[in-house]
Amino acid sequence: MEKIRAAIIGTGGISALHTEGYRKLPDVEVAALCDIDLDKALAYADKYGVDRSHVYADFNEMLAKEKPDIASVTTWNAAHAPAAIAALNAGCHVICEKPMAMNAAEARAMQDAADQNGRVLQIGFVRRFGNDARVALDMIQSGEVGDIYYAQAHYLRRHGFPGGWFGDKAYSGGGPLIDLGVHVIDLTRYLMGNPKPVSAFGAAFRKLGSRPDIKRTKEVYTSTVKGRKFDFTVEDLTTAMIRFENGAILTVECSFDANIKSGSGDIQLLGTKAGLQVSPAVELYTNTNGYMSNIALTDPVPFDGDAFNREIAHFVDCAKAANAGRPFTCKAPGTDGIVIMQILDAIYESAATGHEAIIK
Ligand SMILES: NC(=O)c1ccc[n+]([C@@H]2O[C@H](COP(=O)([O-])OP(=O)(O)OC[C@H]3O[C@@H](n4cnc5c(N)ncnc54)[C@H](O)[C@@H]3O)[C@@H](O)[C@H]2O)c1
Repeated sequence: MEKIRAAIIGTGGISALHTEGYRKLPDVEVAALCDIDLDKALAYADKYGVDRSHVYADFNEMLAKEKPDIASVTTWNAAHAPAAIAALNAGCHVICEKPMAMNAAEARAMQDAADQNGRVLQIGFVRRFGNDARVALDMIQSGEVGDIYYAQAHYLRRHGFPGGWFGDKAYSGGGPLIDLGVHVIDLTRYLMGNPKPVSAFGAAFRKLGSRPDIKRTKEVYTSTVKGRKFDFTVEDLTTAMIRFENGAILTVECSFDANIKSGSGDIQLLGTKAGLQVSPAVELYTNTNGYMSNIALTDPVPFDGDAFNREIAHFVDCAKAANAGRPFTCKAPGTDGIVIMQILDAIYESAATGHEAIIK
């Protein structure tokens, strides 16, 4: 059996989870690697047993020489659109990490390339593949929650700037909103049934910066790229209210750094029958026989690391179905990625103008 040949574009932190996901699938091989930091890509090749002759510093050269079947785009955000479009035009099915791009215009260009080439474009909305999302969606679809009219999502860190390019707008497109908020905005909207956003009101602050004043008590992952120096030009805290066409509202708060007691990553959906907490654990807030009651699962389902493997396996299944001309539904399609970028664009626009931004 000929294996599906996967390429990795950007051999940094998250790419390891893509590579490990591919390596779990018997009919896929990680065949080629690319990073502008060639030494980093070579060390990665040695770690994962990829022959050094398949390692490149330029994705165009890699795509032309290796002709991979599928590609993971795991670069910093500014390279998502150019790398994904090049890979799609080279005939690859593509999974691109979140955020889909720097803005909605880039995201649309990526989807156009996927459509023109008849290729799959999946976005790395890994939270859709968590066990918590599966159970929450089951609760919602079975009618336990009723109509969802309000949702709250937080991804707050007290001290969690990832370092390097994550703070440099030219490479990241923004701060905690585009890096962290994107996860919870997407998951919440997905659980709400993917309603169409119509406007957003937001505020963004840069008060604490990259916090060089804080001494680390333990080692944390920091993104580094040889020969590059990055500035801190993004926000460190964002808050926003997103309005959907069906009248529902989502409020979101996210931070790299904030003077709060501790970070949090909670999501709550308020329905007419019950409230549903998704994160940190699935719980229902309802009433039983007329008494207020809280229902927790005896077997809790927090977000689990295996979600990355499910995400990669799903992408490969979609690629196979597309190749065979079989119908398939991608669980995290580029079309949803575009909508999320529209929401992020609107929040940043509103933060800049001080007024609500309309999403068309
Ligand atoms: N799904 C998740 O939970 C999750 C978690 C972390 C990061 N991410 C996303 O993954 C992406 C990468 O993040 P990371 O933490 O791995 O960053 P990283 O800095 O560790 O790795 C990014 C790599 O991309 C390389 N790169 C940049 N431009 C390139 C180009 N044109 N061609 C080839 N390589 C290029 C850099 O040299 C670097 O090695 C980001 O978009 C980030 O938002 C997703």
